[in-house]
Amino acid sequence: MSEKIEELKNKKAKAMLGGGKERIKKQHDKGKLTARERIELLVDENSFDEIDMFVKHRARAFGVNKQHYPGDGVVTGLAKIDGRPIALYSQDFTVFGGSLSETHSEKILKIMSLALKNGIPIVGLNDSGGARIQEGVVSLGGYADIFLQNTLASGVVPQISAIMGPCAGGAVYSPAITDFIFMVKNTSHMFVTGPNVVKTVTHEKVSFEDLGGAVTHATKSGVAHFIYDNEIETLLNIRKLLSYLPLNFMDKANEVEFDYSKLKVDTKLNAIIPDQSTKPYDMKEVISCLVDDNDFFEVQSEFAQNIIVGFCRIGGISIGVVANQPMVLAGVLDIDASVKGARFVRFCDAFNIPLLVLEDVPGFLPGTAQEWGGIIKHGAKLLYAFCEATVPKVTVITRKAYGGAYDVMNSKHIRGDFNFAWPSAEIAVMGPQGAVEIIFKKEIEKAKDPIAELEKKLTEYKEKFTNPYIAAERGFLDDVIEPSETKIKLIKSFSILKNKVDKNPKKKHGNIPL
Ligand code: HXC
Repeated sequence: MSEKIEELKNKKAKAMLGGGKERIKKQHDKGKLTARERIELLVDENSFDEIDMFVKHRARAFGVNKQHYPGDGVVTGLAKIDGRPIALYSQDFTVFGGSLSETHSEKILKIMSLALKNGIPIVGLNDSGGARIQEGVVSLGGYADIFLQNTLASGVVPQISAIMGPCAGGAVYSPAITDFIFMVKNTSHMFVTGPNVVKTVTHEKVSFEDLGGAVTHATKSGVAHFIYDNEIETLLNIRKLLSYLPLNFMDKANEVEFDYSKLKVDTKLNAIIPDQSTKPYDMKEVISCLVDDNDFFEVQSEFAQNIIVGFCRIGGISIGVVANQPMVLAGVLDIDASVKGARFVRFCDAFNIPLLVLEDVPGFLPGTAQEWGGIIKHGAKLLYAFCEATVPKVTVITRKAYGGAYDVMNSKHIRGDFNFAWPSAEIAVMGPQGAVEIIFKKEIEKAKDPIAELEKKLTEYKEKFTNPYIAAERGFLDDVIEPSETKIKLIKSFSILKNKVDKNPKKKHGNIPL
């Protein structure tokens, strides 16, 4: 028996080396960790149970039958993060460049299937040259099998992808279907076609980094949700993200104990809205005052910054925040902001994470670029997402709530559970200047002093509409509150809504305006 145990140990030791010491050194020289080192950093100590360590590929073409590395370029298994289970795979670039063979894909599919059956999140660490060239269409089939499984798992368990190296061609579509994409600055790249193909087809000269680096996808395309300077930070922040999430769609996120002795009225908020309604203020300061321990985990922080989305805890409960940012484009809703907000709202709704909306929005962005770009269908995504969401939904209007944007941002009419406004709220069909110029056009034109008349009408309009009380009189707002009491109101609201039950009509699936 001891010989057999020795043999087992030797086999495992060989598998642990992946593509061998030399290739591991190459990986390190590029500033990258190995598949196993990444797992060690990601999961709780000694919690990783590997599956399929001895799997070998079955290919024969181009002499690959003479090249075997146990595990076939991907490390898969089950582990724990903060004591809670996850399923994971980590591609090993030292074996055939982490490329996806038939057996490599079978390993990924096996742990995905385990995750689905047992209701646990899936984390994929991607570092791959794409389809295993020597396996041809079999490898493409493997990708398609993964895409299908990603789609079936969508909305059942959270799926997180980290791009830790190359991710090119159709391979990008697995991460793209998952819920969140993490990237590492300078060492990870995603593109459908690389710089060489781009040059041939469009004659554009572009570097790897500019075409599909982390910064590009965080700022320009919005493909990446989180980017970090190095792999260690990336892996630690995957842990942080998971701390806000439930294990599956039937589970609730972990509630942490809240220290009520720390709860005090924060008078800072009473002074945050400038006297002049056109002046910006930083909505992130408002968020910081409202969330537990001032700890806000922002998603897509560098993309469409006129809307802020992210996770936090309020009274110990995990909450998704959607907030307009008056500091950027006056907080207006445009195409990118609508899509960003909609996807986040749908994620939270799919996984029972209550929503807090902080609203200061002058409306949708006008102009040909937006209209021709389809602001109608993209804005409708955000509207659809809020309408469809059945999780607890609380809105606080801090200042502007104009036009369609008032309706969209989780108004009472689309099933907001608690809708509050600060006394600084302005709720109307449109802003004073535009409104007065339309409805009093004739009076202003006929007046002896048109400017004085315009001023008079502006004052009249502002007195009538730039306040929250007309909406409150109708019951469209549940209360007008002092900014300083907002946190207490939110804790009470989310606590009452803990057992909320709401349903949408039975259907196959809705048809969100894509
Ligand atoms: C088999 C591959 C491979 C692949 C890399 N290798 N990519 N083996 N299939 N797709 C192997 C190399 O032969 C090499 O083996 C080792 O991995 C490391 O590769 P290098 O080229 O030495 O590394 P580096 O210089 O860092 O370049 C990495 C790379 C490059 C940029 C990823 O390897 C590359 O361009 N690979 C091909 C990428 C590609 O075009 N893939 C197909 C994309 S289309 P040794 O033995 O020397 O260590 C696709 C379709 C998916 O994937 C469709 C889904 C629907």
